Amino acid sequence: SDLSSLGDVRGKRVLVRSDLNVPLDGTTITDDGRIRASVPTIRSLVDAGARVAVVAHLGRPKGAPDPAYSLRPVAARLSELLGAPVAFATDTVGESARQTVDALGDGEVAVLENVRFNAGETSKDEAERGAFADQLAELADAFVSDGFGVVHRKQASVYDVAQRLPHAMGGLVAKEIDVLRRLTVDPARPYVVVLGGSKVSDKLGVIDNLLGKADKLLIGGGMVFTFLKAQGHEVGKSLLEEDQLDVCRSYLTRAQESGVEIVLPTDIVVDTTFPSAGTEPHPTVVPSSEIPADSLGLDIGPESGAAFAAALEGAKTVFWNGPMGVFEVDAFADGTRAVAQALTAIDGLSVVGGGDSAAAVRKLGFDEAAFGHISTGGGASLEYLEGKELPGITVLED
Ligand code: 3PG
Repeated sequence: SDLSSLGDVRGKRVLVRSDLNVPLDGTTITDDGRIRASVPTIRSLVDAGARVAVVAHLGRPKGAPDPAYSLRPVAARLSELLGAPVAFATDTVGESARQTVDALGDGEVAVLENVRFNAGETSKDEAERGAFADQLAELADAFVSDGFGVVHRKQASVYDVAQRLPHAMGGLVAKEIDVLRRLTVDPARPYVVVLGGSKVSDKLGVIDNLLGKADKLLIGGGMVFTFLKAQGHEVGKSLLEEDQLDVCRSYLTRAQESGVEIVLPTDIVVDTTFPSAGTEPHPTVVPSSEIPADSLGLDIGPESGAAFAAALEGAKTVFWNGPMGVFEVDAFADGTRAVAQALTAIDGLSVVGGGDSAAAVRKLGFDEAAFGHISTGGGASLEYLEGKELPGITVLED
């Protein structure tokens, strides 16, 4: 059900769910990747003469207006990228939203204020969510689902509203699903997966599922310390999820039994404190089996970066989710850089998944075109790879 399934949209009010959840420093957007990724669908609706109302969330406000999470700066950036004015409604379904949408001419665009300022959006209570979805649906004649990063959320603007309006899948969601399918159905081999980020507990489902599919699993980032500890090493003050130690042990055993190679870092960059603004970092490289008690691991070391790059060489399919270290700080960015660099040399399908890794490759100055695909979805792409149903997709198929 692509956009054409909606027929002629000229003069119609089309509600587009985009994922505009970008990192902000105050009101400054530090990575606009998701906004840029949202432009093609919006533009094609504009070109078709639709009156486009974009609905999106920013951060996790508590179901009430919170100026720190306003989408106003995002609307301004969208306007720059579209090269056209973008109206902004100061609420999502109230007076301002109604007036703003009513005032749209054919081919004009408005952004509605953060949908999560409304308790109904994320409510677990179907009736409450449904009542809010009714209000959203009143604003439009049709709905386009294009916020890939939120399709794993059963929320009013993602799920319930699609049941209330003629709907279609936007081009971004279609493209993301197509790429992820290639990672799960008959992936070209060797298939190497690189996982990082802070928490093992976020990645359990994916590891579980990929242990049967990938040839190699490279692990870095904050989550690696639970694996190192599971192997019997001391990890000092590093991030550790005690309650996942047994699970990590079982993965190491299962990998051995099934012939999947799990590659863990042999050296780690440590410091005695987590880097903070205004303090000088003191990066020290130590063997991963000798992390001092007063230190915490903040990146994989140079030997490991080279080993990960070597393990990626010749891969035909690669999925990477999660940075290898605290890449925001130069002293702890080399591990993430080494992985990104290795991915640019892949002759096959390389997919960078997850907001953090996507932001990392851009922050480190890599050309996006050097990667096969940079996904806009973090949790969404992981849940797809776990084999879970994505409510925002199934609702479009029903
Ligand atoms: C994301 O950042 O992964 C998406 O925008 C979803 O945000 P959420 O995890 O707050 O639902």
